[in-house]
Amino acid sequence: MIKFTIITLFREALEPYLKTSMMWKATEKGLAEFDFVNLRDFGLGPHKSVDDAPYGGGDGMLLRCEPVFAAIESVKATDPEAKVILPTPVGEIWTQKMAREFVSCSGPRPAGPSPWAAGANSRAAALRNAPKQDTNPHYIILCPHYEGYDERILSIVDYKISLGKYVLTGGELPALIIIDSVVRLIPGVLGGEQSAEIESFSDGDNLEYPQYTRPEEFRGMKVPEVLLSGNHGEIAKWREEHSGTV
Ligand code: ADE
Repeated sequence: MIKFTIITLFREALEPYLKTSMMWKATEKGLAEFDFVNLRDFGLGPHKSVDDAPYGGGDGMLLRCEPVFAAIESVKATDPEAKVILPTPVGEIWTQKMAREFVSCSGPRPAGPSPWAAGANSRAAALRNAPKQDTNPHYIILCPHYEGYDERILSIVDYKISLGKYVLTGGELPALIIIDSVVRLIPGVLGGEQSAEIESFSDGDNLEYPQYTRPEEFRGMKVPEVLLSGNHGEIAKWREEHSGTV
């Protein structure tokens, strides 16, 4: 069982997706669990404020440390081993390889000092090199909003993850993408062959080849002859020749 606890101000943006299709099936089968923590519950003062203006001036508001630390610590109180993911455009670019590692590995938090800005990514590298553990991984995804976050928040983060070289308004979409790409790799979520796929390409990236279904011809576009031949050797060869990587 893999668990994701999502710390967000916008649960309603995430829930419909996680209650649909494969994500829902994964929870129904007991293979994944999604939990939400409302960051507002840990806000300060009568308005439950979670953000403030940046020191030194500048536009926008930043997530404050106090509510974020309190929210994360409330989750860690029940599971100290849970790892914290921060979606951020300046994080390590998310890949299929990382998704696969997140499914199977919940490594120990590496010992030693925890430098802020550089720390999270080097921790991610250390975790990737740690021996695989057969545990029930629990990931806390902190979804920042507004213009950013107080840099000291990085001291409590294990993985800084970027979904690409562009800037979104918040961490909710990245959270869904991370969750989807990890959960679909859990054996049993998509179907029997999925775990085999993980074994065969465990050193790197998935192979993706062009696929076709009925009809054999559509608007003059024909399915490649070899795929209709029934010759499994030739089909495998064709697929390999036409594979791309992700
Ligand atoms: N938050 C805002 N933009 C992001 C991105 N590209 N990746 C991850 N988190 C983000």
